[in-house]
Amino acid sequence: MKFLVQSFSVFVFVFRIVLAYNFPYEDIQLKDTDVINNTDIAFGKPSPSRPSVSTKRCKIFPGDADWPSPKKWNDFNLTLGGALIKGFPPAAACYPGPNYDEARCAYVRKNSGSSLFVMEDPTIPGGQWQTGNSCPLPAVPTPGLNLTLANYTCNLNGFPSYVVRATTIKHVQAAINLARNKNIRLVIKNTGHDFLGRNTGGGSLQVWMHQMKQFEYLPSFTMGKYHGQAARVGASLQTFDLISYMEKYNITMVIPGGSTIAVYGGYAQGGGHGLLTSRFGLGADQILSLEVVTADGRFVHADPDTNQDLFWAIRGGGGSTFGIVTSAVVKVYPAIPVSQSSFNFQTGPIFGNATNTVSVPDKTFWEGIKVYFSHMTRICDAKGIGWNYINTIPPINAPGLNRSRTFNFVNQITLPGFNAGEAKEFIAPLIRDLNAIGINLTNPQPKFSISVARHVSRPPGDGTGNGRYGSRLFPRSSLEDPESDSFLATMVAIRSFVEEGGYAFHSVDFTPTKEIAGYPGSNSAVNPAFREGILHATGFDTGSYGPDASPAQQIANHKRLNEYIEKWREASPGAGAYMNEADTEEPDFQQSFYGYNYDRLLRIKRKVDPWGVFYAVTAVGSDEWIVEGTQGLPTQQGRLCRVDE
Ligand SMILES: Cc1cc2nc3c(=O)[nH]c(=O)nc-3n(C[C@H](O)[C@H](O)[C@H](O)COP(=O)(O)OP(=O)(O)OC[C@H]3O[C@@H](n4cnc5c(N)ncnc54)[C@H](O)[C@@H]3O)c2cc1C
Ligand SMILES: *[C@@H]1O[C@H](CO)[C@@H](O)[C@H](O)[C@H]1NC(C)=O
Ligand SMILES: *[C@@H]1O[C@H](CO)[C@@H](O)[C@H](O)[C@H]1NC(C)=O
Ligand SMILES: *[C@@H]1O[C@H](CO)[C@@H](O)[C@H](O)[C@H]1NC(C)=O
Ligand SMILES: *[C@@H]1O[C@H](CO)[C@@H](O)[C@H](O)[C@H]1NC(C)=O
Ligand SMILES: *[C@@H]1O[C@H](CO)[C@@H](O)[C@H](O)[C@H]1NC(C)=O
Ligand SMILES: *[C@@H]1O[C@H](CO)[C@@H](O)[C@H](O)[C@H]1NC(C)=O
Ligand SMILES: *[C@@H]1O[C@H](CO)[C@@H](O)[C@H](O)[C@H]1NC(C)=O
Ligand SMILES: *[C@@H]1O[C@H](CO)[C@@H](O)[C@H](O)[C@H]1NC(C)=O
Repeated sequence: MKFLVQSFSVFVFVFRIVLAYNFPYEDIQLKDTDVINNTDIAFGKPSPSRPSVSTKRCKIFPGDADWPSPKKWNDFNLTLGGALIKGFPPAAACYPGPNYDEARCAYVRKNSGSSLFVMEDPTIPGGQWQTGNSCPLPAVPTPGLNLTLANYTCNLNGFPSYVVRATTIKHVQAAINLARNKNIRLVIKNTGHDFLGRNTGGGSLQVWMHQMKQFEYLPSFTMGKYHGQAARVGASLQTFDLISYMEKYNITMVIPGGSTIAVYGGYAQGGGHGLLTSRFGLGADQILSLEVVTADGRFVHADPDTNQDLFWAIRGGGGSTFGIVTSAVVKVYPAIPVSQSSFNFQTGPIFGNATNTVSVPDKTFWEGIKVYFSHMTRICDAKGIGWNYINTIPPINAPGLNRSRTFNFVNQITLPGFNAGEAKEFIAPLIRDLNAIGINLTNPQPKFSISVARHVSRPPGDGTGNGRYGSRLFPRSSLEDPESDSFLATMVAIRSFVEEGGYAFHSVDFTPTKEIAGYPGSNSAVNPAFREGILHATGFDTGSYGPDASPAQQIANHKRLNEYIEKWREASPGAGAYMNEADTEEPDFQQSFYGYNYDRLLRIKRKVDPWGVFYAVTAVGSDEWIVEGTQGLPTQQGRLCRVDE
């Protein structure tokens, strides 16, 4: 069923239409005859000179006079063959009134902390603050905590009003066309993992891209200069799906750390790092071709020779901006073994019978952090990956903030292609350097797996959170020379984040250079800061943005977090941040998330989406829009309007 001939269309505006795509669901398309008598879902026609931008300043919202009537929505549902769902947050079951349902509420309470629950719900994103805490799960009444239901409200309009459960190209096309023609805000949810609020919007029409899970292994594939193994992948395949295909076909693919992420959804479109990134590059670097529904509603193919701008932009230029990706062809590698070393050190007492950790004084602890990072270029040059946390007890929000802190450092060093003996020998100089400053660890026996799939196999599931984030892609030059000012400045910035700020520090350390990215990956919109980068630092502030924190408190909490992230920026002038794990309010996000690619991306955005059909906070061109009625918070529950000029 591959290479079906597309029902050829006479309307060829912006894109070249080619006669091949990946899967049978991509053969079910909206035809020109379908829209002849239904102008609501007619295709878009940008005029070559002046694009037909809506003259209305704002997108419409439920309750507006021009909001489609129930009959119109019903007609739309018929066009979709019944794939329309009314947006309804699951926590509504916990509020008194007509939606109250004790059993359902208990179920929601039990499961809402899991990404497995979030991904199966059509409406909700992974966090609550992103919707302005529109219908949060009310806190369980707790003695001593004077929380009443008055602190919680369930506003259904803070969520997408309608959801198209997309299983075919036709569903995606009809949703885009209706949203564009009716001036309705359009949002795309895949798994709902996004930290920034790019996957939700109040009063929107949502396309739910969670059902396109087809996979096909291609043992021998040629695309331009690439000859090798490949796979056709549906845009809804998640990490755990790809792991099972890796086992089945005895292959390796670049996958995220999180087990439930949509790999060719937001992950790869925003960059996408994982265990193999120093060896095989980013998620975006794997893409050989793409199938995309664009803002005019047309279904197009993009590869290094076809619709080159679109192909360039989607690989790293961010999801929800240039089109809706329905499938891709991506690189595949032979199965490779992997070894992983893990050790910890900490201040304060060691509890339980924890092994492989030692307790050291504060001063030695921070010296140890320097020693660890001084080995990072060597680890990445061997195509390995560092992964670590520096935790602080108590964290920022705990009572007794002023008592002295204890810290612990946990890390894993993953070495693809190494057997256990090689890995142990490779780690030895790092352990020796730690021993030399009084961190008396023994070189741990690495965990060895015959394949990456075996290494990461586990029941899928990630936690959800309601935190705000900070990100910085520190360049290689920050870690190259442990005597340099930039190395020391980096260490000072990390230390103050944890020690003074009281936040947990996390980094994943990798080097997806252009050379590693190869063809066609090296020529894409991936943030240039990734190419120069080695240390991807993230910091979180969880628990400060829920319904119990007033907008003013949330603003203050974020301001404090940002002051500490600012020290990372000052320590790495000109570097960037990773859009998928960053602060929604990243200052100068255009430079941070996109670097010197931003201007070209904006030109492409204006060309392929002159209507502004696709909006996501911090996406290319998003600074021309604002969500109103959010009390100064960067949340998504309000009405989307153009910024006044
Ligand atoms: C637990 C956890 C672990 C993580 N681990 C990693 C990691 O190891 N490495 C890493 O790089 N990142 C990681 N991330 C960040 C992750 O890359 C982002 O959250 C990413 O946005 C998730 O994409 P998604 O499609 O699954 O999620 P969604 O929230 O559904 O979508 C994210 C964005 O992409 C858009 N989008 C989704 N599908 C499509 C599509 N088909 N076409 C166009 N736009 C689309 C959405 O509109 C939204 O803007 C992690 C996140 C979490 C929560
Ligand atoms: C559109 O409507 C006209 C008039 O009712 C009808 O003659 C025609 O067959 C319809 N076309 C399609 C494709 O349904
Ligand atoms: C759309 O139609 C299906 C099938 O008839 C139905 O189950 C669903 O509730 C409808 N959706 C809406 C929003 O009415
Ligand atoms: C708890 O809240 C209620 C309602 O807001 C208020 O009347 C009461 O005084 C509060 N009790 C305490 C101990 O603060
Ligand atoms: C899997 O692939 C690797 C690398 O090509 C090969 O060495 C190994 O024998 C294969 N395993 C099986 C079970 O086919
Ligand atoms: C201590 O180790 C034993 C054996 O490995 C394990 O069963 C037990 O759960 C551990 N106890 C704690 C407190 O970690
Ligand atoms: C924290 O402790 C220091 C030293 O004991 C003290 O000087 C300072 O006032 C304390 N700060 C707060 C906010 O309690
Ligand atoms: C580490 O080992 C050295 C040499 O054996 C010893 O002098 C030192 O006290 C030890 N340090 C700690 C923190 O145990
Ligand atoms: C709960 O709401 C009341 C009334 O708005 C407010 O005074 C109180 O501070 C809120 N409680 C919390 C913990 O936010």
